[in-house]
Amino acid sequence: MAVRNWYPLPVAGSEAGGRVFADLMRLAEMVEPGQPGWTRRVFSPEYLKSRELVWELMGSAGLEVRRDPAGNLIGTLQGASPDQPALILGSHTDTVAGGGRFDGPCGVMAALEAVRRIGERGGRPQRTLLVVDFLGEEPNDFGISCVGSRAAAGHLSSGHLRLRDGSGRTLAEALAQMGGDPDRIAEARWPQGTASAYLELHVEQGTRLEEAGRGLAVVTAIAGIHRAEIRLEGRADHSGTTPMDRRSDALLAAAEVSLGVERLGRRGGLGVATVGRLELEPNSPNVVAERATLIAEYRSGDPSWLAATDALLQEEVTQVPARRGVRAQLAWLSREGPTLCSEELRSVLLASAREVGEEPLELASWAGHDAVQMAAICPVAMLFVPSRGGRSHCPEEWTDPEQVEVGTMALTAAVARLAL
Ligand code: GLV
Ligand code: MN
Ligand code: MN
Repeated sequence: MAVRNWYPLPVAGSEAGGRVFADLMRLAEMVEPGQPGWTRRVFSPEYLKSRELVWELMGSAGLEVRRDPAGNLIGTLQGASPDQPALILGSHTDTVAGGGRFDGPCGVMAALEAVRRIGERGGRPQRTLLVVDFLGEEPNDFGISCVGSRAAAGHLSSGHLRLRDGSGRTLAEALAQMGGDPDRIAEARWPQGTASAYLELHVEQGTRLEEAGRGLAVVTAIAGIHRAEIRLEGRADHSGTTPMDRRSDALLAAAEVSLGVERLGRRGGLGVATVGRLELEPNSPNVVAERATLIAEYRSGDPSWLAATDALLQEEVTQVPARRGVRAQLAWLSREGPTLCSEELRSVLLASAREVGEEPLELASWAGHDAVQMAAICPVAMLFVPSRGGRSHCPEEWTDPEQVEVGTMALTAAVARLAL
């Protein structure tokens, strides 16, 4: 804690500033062929390959690198006092389908750069520093998100490992293909007391920083997210010969349930609700749909809004499809409550932002993050850098190199405050 301003303040375009952005762009080249945007989904061959680059970058930054049984890549810089709990920095490098280059990778590369700057200046932190590229933060075909950080928190159950994707593969099998070891998943859990704090830099994915003309935000809390899979089963029939009043149309039931989910998201201004995934069978223009599977997701910072929405959704699913002669089943995929960021870490991040010349906003996050899982183990806090036009989960996602640099500087300053 004695050392202040031990790192030079790189100006935009400086060698150090250019390096973190160059790493980001190198990773961004590793995309799934034939997919839109900058797609690198968890369990894709390109994601597996891209992590060789992350491994190499961690290694050349002087970190000892390992992969844990959950497939997390962990780079370690040993501290001078190994008995002190470690400081963890991390995020993820998988993307949504058709996603961008910054959601996730920005935090991993900034974390790596922060630790690299400390190492380059000969700084040996008191605390051990860990840089973690958590496996698969985005929702996947098994219906869950934050696979790696969930395992680190001890929240990846054997039930999760038995989940199957559309091809019949289990999550355990997919994890093994990523170099994980599902039989040893319990060893990926970080025991209480091993981590002092978790910091994550991330792009804002909204417009509040841009509109306020600010370069940084300190996150106050992260919205809770509930996801439910709804399976609807009607009857396949000929689209020409079946009269309109003799159909059990699973697609129309799904459409009505989806509109109901939208209404739930519009109540009270306290949350948002989305149906972003819908699968149909047989999905043919001349067959009344037999089956529809959709995922309803809603988010709020208010636990009672989330609980009320659970009940209203259940009611919707019980009543609406039945009126159409369609059977319905609801299964919860995940129910994460809101996460509060640590007051103490927030003040460290506020001071670190000011140290690099920024007056930060304080914002709640409507996006989910690995930090939510890490909060089960240790205090967490997050820094946001701006997203141009607020665009995210799309190819247009963008943050200027100078903005990435300012975030990296503030993160480095925070590491200095917490670990040196
Ligand atoms: C993660 O990107 C999420 O908010 O769903
Ligand atoms: Mn995302
Ligand atoms: Mn993310």
